[in-house]
Amino acid sequence: MYLPQLLKKSAQGEKLVALTCYDASFARLMVRCGIDILLVGDSLGMTVQGHATTLPVTLEQMVYHTEAVARGAEGGALILTDLPFGSYQQAREQAFAAAARLLAAGANMVKLEGGSVMAPTVSFLTQRGVPVCGHLGLLPQSVNQTGYAAQGCDGASATQLLRDAEDLMGAGVKLMVLESIPSVLAEEVTQRLAVPTIGIGAGPYCNGQVLVLQDMLGLTPKPPRFAKDFMAGALSLEEAVLSYARAVRKGEFPGPEHCV
Ligand code: KIV
Repeated sequence: MYLPQLLKKSAQGEKLVALTCYDASFARLMVRCGIDILLVGDSLGMTVQGHATTLPVTLEQMVYHTEAVARGAEGGALILTDLPFGSYQQAREQAFAAAARLLAAGANMVKLEGGSVMAPTVSFLTQRGVPVCGHLGLLPQSVNQTGYAAQGCDGASATQLLRDAEDLMGAGVKLMVLESIPSVLAEEVTQRLAVPTIGIGAGPYCNGQVLVLQDMLGLTPKPPRFAKDFMAGALSLEEAVLSYARAVRKGEFPGPEHCV
């Protein structure tokens, strides 16, 4: 699915439903279940490879997983792939070269972490045919600076996050992932931005939701508080994914117990 179709759904008031996806068989299943966005997240460093962080994931590995997901999805969902740590922070040209590899592998859009400092990179990419999704709040690639704590919880950091969001939008992002921030802040970002917000641990007011697949299937030993195990009580993987999609679209997930 291309970006204009996704943005149209959101403009019509539909909640966007996203899940991380790392291989062809899950891509097929997710498309069957009507998932809008398959996020080839660098979380695969933790969920698939067993690392403690996303930092060791390479561009080659993201290309490999994007190709697999694209083969399974066959155009039935938007494929959003993470630019891995170290593949885009050094220079705009480096970011473009990495993004070009991912688009050639089958991604429809790339995601990068970081605030205003990344705005020139976002402009460079978007002016050259690369759709970009921002990612604010808890930034897993900055774990060595912040740990995995919720972000934007005090006035100063909330103000900074709003500034970051506006700068990234001005630079051309067309989607914004908000991770682990208070619901009221996510609501304000969502109201201020003209592009859809996709929350993970950011409350119910975002324009869509994303979860890490293994968290929503109950496979993560210590899942984050904002995750829900949709496999509990489900008779099949398909039923679990369908019930997640339904809960997001009806505004039933996330509930207050999933907010930071
Ligand atoms: O890599 C990933 O799975 C992500 C989500 C946490 C949004 O970026």
